[in-house]
Amino acid sequence: MAIRCTNLILLTIIANISTALRPNMIIFIADDVGYGDLKSYGHPTQEWGPIDDLAEEGMKFTSLYSTNSVCSPSRAALLTGRLPIRIGVYGKNMVFPAQSPNGLPKDEITMPEILRDVGYATGMVGKWHLGINDYTPMSGVHLPHYHGFDWVGTNLPLSNAWACDETKKHMDAPNPFNCFMYNNETIIQQPFSHQYLTKTFVVEASTFIKQQTEKDEPFFLYMSFVHNHVAMFIGKDAKFTSNRGIYGAGIRELSWGVGEIMKEIQSLGIDNNTLVFFTSDNGGHIELCNEGGNNGILKGGKANYYEGGIRVPGILRWPGQISAGTINSNIVSQLDIFTTFVNLAGGETPSDRVIDGRDITQQILGAMKLKNESKTKKRILFFYCNDMLFAVRYGSYKVHFYTMPVKSKEEYADACGEGGFPNKLYVNCLNCPSDCVIKHDPPLIFNVDADPGEGYQLDPALHKLLLLEVKHFLAEHNSTLIKGEDLLSALNQPSQPCCDSSKPSCSCNYP
Ligand SMILES: *[C@@H]1O[C@H](CO)[C@@H](O)[C@H](O)[C@H]1NC(C)=O
Ligand SMILES: *[C@@H]1O[C@H](CO)[C@@H](O)[C@H](O)[C@H]1NC(C)=O
Ligand SMILES: *[C@@H]1O[C@H](CO)[C@@H](O)[C@H](O)[C@H]1NC(C)=O
Ligand SMILES: *[C@@H]1O[C@H](CO)[C@@H](O)[C@H](O)[C@H]1NC(C)=O
Repeated sequence: MAIRCTNLILLTIIANISTALRPNMIIFIADDVGYGDLKSYGHPTQEWGPIDDLAEEGMKFTSLYSTNSVCSPSRAALLTGRLPIRIGVYGKNMVFPAQSPNGLPKDEITMPEILRDVGYATGMVGKWHLGINDYTPMSGVHLPHYHGFDWVGTNLPLSNAWACDETKKHMDAPNPFNCFMYNNETIIQQPFSHQYLTKTFVVEASTFIKQQTEKDEPFFLYMSFVHNHVAMFIGKDAKFTSNRGIYGAGIRELSWGVGEIMKEIQSLGIDNNTLVFFTSDNGGHIELCNEGGNNGILKGGKANYYEGGIRVPGILRWPGQISAGTINSNIVSQLDIFTTFVNLAGGETPSDRVIDGRDITQQILGAMKLKNESKTKKRILFFYCNDMLFAVRYGSYKVHFYTMPVKSKEEYADACGEGGFPNKLYVNCLNCPSDCVIKHDPPLIFNVDADPGEGYQLDPALHKLLLLEVKHFLAEHNSTLIKGEDLLSALNQPSQPCCDSSKPSCSCNYP
């Protein structure tokens, strides 16, 4: 493994850099893809694709958690290594709405900011959803360029949405006010067309990789796919199909996108020097019938805190370093990806604030045999809905202080038409607090090793020691907790992006 040391001015970190492996790093992040959506994670009818190849060639995680069950807080945590409650990415709207004047705070230190400081070229394409404007419709102050990404291609600063369905199958027309596509800081389509989205991301990301490789600079790419969030779409040119119907075809297009980037890396000869991570921001949106994801054996999904909402697919691949075909069943959080990637790049995680991620290098590199986590040093992960501590994963156990009811498929059926066609967009229970949230005192306990589907409640009276330990760690956690200012509740109409702020209606319709 060549050690690349290109930036001589960084004297203070040179020692770190010279001992670090400094691979190129790519995060492929999917939207709303559930634990059971991929063939390599056991889906019976989904076709095998390049993402599954990554699992065969690398390490597949079976207990990898996103930090939140909806996207803005989950993504904020992945990029900063910090719980959203500390950053302030919580609040009434659960995610950043189009009219939010807020975004990821400037004083949060992101993975690309640290990597850039140690000589990495940093780039992103795709979904952002960590803020757009502050007080004017075109300020763009929260966009990726202001959080460490030097190169920013085509991106959806908000998200794909049901309201962006240009097929008109679910509703009359796309709503331009929620559906805009940017290139870097400029709106290029409103409402956007889905047709060439994935292809555009692939072409642009490939160009970024090629350019950095020619310069012999290490790079970090955050490739954030729009699949497989509603509205479902399939590019006109490739026309993927699936035994699973349109959801499965979306997974195939997503997988194709990953595969094209992997081909590029192989053809550039940088395969052995590139660490790739595939994951999803939260579990599948199960209320959307056959257009929502599948969380396999897990209960619940997007927006709740049963395993289906937060345990997500996760695959790391790095030939020569990570043994092919390994399965890692330790409890791992996306927060750890921050810490691990920063360390592998020779950067330093911030020391002036709490970082919730752990370095997992020891358990991923082939040279150091995969270790099962010691029973005496059990990992504890905290899950907040808004600013309410909902659940913890602790060792084999999951302890819920609050839950949201999960309906059976039969109960969802009133929202589903022929063949599982979703007739309406809904989430069974979303906000915290709300009438649908159920408090548990004593808490609800499951052994999620023995019962990952969280079907069989354990008797709190027989698990007093466990609850005492959890209480102890919670108090310890609470003592480090300085809540960030609530960033997800504010709405400010003039913050809404539009094409031309000189027009009173602030609306437009690009072809
Ligand atoms: C993105 O926009 C910023 C601010 O206008 C600019 O400095 C930067 O060069 C742009 N990046 C790309 C890749 O165009
Ligand atoms: C990459 O690593 C693999 C496994 O160690 C090795 O077989 C292969 O020759 C390496 N390829 C290159 C281009 O160095
Ligand atoms: C880890 O535990 C699994 C079973 O839980 C076992 O099959 C495997 O050999 C263990 N690995 C190590 C390195 O001890
Ligand atoms: C955490 O600490 C705050 C005061 O700082 C207190 O109000 C709250 O009840 C504590 N929560 C837990 C779970 O201990």
